[in-house]
Amino acid sequence: MPTPPPGSTCWRPGRTRAASGNPRGSPWLPFGSFPGSYRRSGTSQAQGGRMRIGIFGTGGMADALGTQWARAGHELMVSGRSDPAALAARLGASAGTWRETAAFADVVLLAVPAAAIGEVLAEAGPLAGKVLVDCTNDPDLTGTPVASRITTDAHVVKAFNLAHVDVWRMTPPVFDGRPLSVPLCGDDPGALDAVSTLVRDVGAKPVPAGGLDRAALLEATAAFVIGLWFAGEDAQAILTPVG
Ligand SMILES: NC(=O)c1ccc[n+]([C@@H]2O[C@H](COP(=O)([O-])OP(=O)(O)OC[C@H]3O[C@@H](n4cnc5c(N)ncnc54)[C@H](OP(=O)(O)O)[C@@H]3O)[C@@H](O)[C@H]2O)c1
Repeated sequence: MPTPPPGSTCWRPGRTRAASGNPRGSPWLPFGSFPGSYRRSGTSQAQGGRMRIGIFGTGGMADALGTQWARAGHELMVSGRSDPAALAARLGASAGTWRETAAFADVVLLAVPAAAIGEVLAEAGPLAGKVLVDCTNDPDLTGTPVASRITTDAHVVKAFNLAHVDVWRMTPPVFDGRPLSVPLCGDDPGALDAVSTLVRDVGAKPVPAGGLDRAALLEATAAFVIGLWFAGEDAQAILTPVG
């Protein structure tokens, strides 16, 4: 399994085939890293074991992913602006304020509307050394990617934003015999490793998708594909194998 040199998990224009680690040398395969190639860093939860997961939000995504991760044996705390205790009880979790949940967690799932992120992260306080999983999309399509609006000292990983909440409730999410693939964008190897574990815990396959500078592409993909779905088109059918 090829291991990318430090800081080179993402293909950039102009990189050579050898430099990108891309065995097919094609710009259609833009990533220099492969599943399982993430180096483990000092991030405490990245050992593939039980994680302490804080969930910001009590809506559909919090419920769907929280249910999967509780089932996988992780320890959860939930915070939200209204009645986090109800979801916490359903998940066998504890409930806390934003700040208590931030302090408790190794990994935090940000499952609030894009417009609420600034307010929620300000309330949460320091997240240094923790992993922040950003599953948000911006329905208003302001043109400024949500990822670029997140100010935090956490290691951010963009993930889980492409599939509908009902897909995250599937056990497992498999379509025509193929497990759902979940692209991850982030810069910290330990954080990516932890989120890869959480993807596997829902029965899906993590797909390294480059650094956080590519997170906006995931948001744009979500906007584009969701638009097609709502127009009644088969969004899956537009993506063909390379050859
Ligand atoms: N639904 C999907 O299919 C889907 C799929 C992928 C990604 N996403 C993204 O995931 C995120 C969560 O989506 P969701 O479907 O779980 O939404 P949701 O069911 O509407 O839940 C949103 C949560 O955020 C809270 N919230 C709303 N405004 C807030 C504010 N100003 N301050 C603090 N908390 C606030 C809500 O609290 P209240 O209960 O008090 O309103 C609720 O707990 C969104 O960014 C969405 O784009 C959704």
